Amino acid sequence: MRALRDETERFMLRYKFGMDEVITKLSILREEFSQNHDYNPIEHISSRLKSLDSVIAKMQRKGIEPTFDTIRDTITDIAGVRVTCSFVSDAYRLAELLTEQPDIRVLKVKDYIAEPKENGYQSLHLIVEVPVFLSTGAHPVAVEVQIRTIAMDFWASLEHKIYYKYDRQVPQELLDGLTDAAHTAAELDSRMERLHREVHGAPSHRRGTIAI
Ligand code: GTP
Ligand code: MG
Repeated sequence: MRALRDETERFMLRYKFGMDEVITKLSILREEFSQNHDYNPIEHISSRLKSLDSVIAKMQRKGIEPTFDTIRDTITDIAGVRVTCSFVSDAYRLAELLTEQPDIRVLKVKDYIAEPKENGYQSLHLIVEVPVFLSTGAHPVAVEVQIRTIAMDFWASLEHKIYYKYDRQVPQELLDGLTDAAHTAAELDSRMERLHREVHGAPSHRRGTIAI
């Protein structure tokens, strides 16, 4: 039993290390950016490690027997990093700068900015694999990175609260209100981006160019 507990702790710790690696990469980009340019593309970085209980519950929902191997193969959001940017162009730029790094392997990209979800949710989701170097060698670890603007984040956090307040049974009127608010948030992002461009010039990237 003790051996199993120790192995579980080691298993989860790798995800924490992977998360730390990604946070360090983002923090370096952030600091370098503030040095070399006259504005900061990252407003905020937050992170969370999924609890073992949530991991097991998710495996049960998927109907898969939880073992270290099946969890590693199935659950890619044990380590989660969320980055809020000021502008949509910064979100793409950051995603590009991160995924271009040679030790990063992109496992999946979900661009809900280019294609928002039905409810209006917008965010750029990356599942990246980063090597964690331990005494036993290099261990690749999956980390989910969500990159979005302040407006998208504002919307997502309210939607999340409402979703839980109504125990997933949100009245249609509220759902419609949320979708409408998502459009307003997207509109605000476009206007802010235009103003930003007038001050700083056009961004040097294109949308939807993150390659796997
Ligand atoms: P999960 O199994 O729930 O992690 O989702 P998935 O495998 O379908 O991946 P997806 O990329 O769609 O969503 C991953 C995460 O993005 C979720 O766990 C949430 O944190 C966030 N997310 C996705 N959709 C929504 C949404 O409609 N509203 C909010 N507030 N967050 C969302
Ligand atoms: Mg998730």
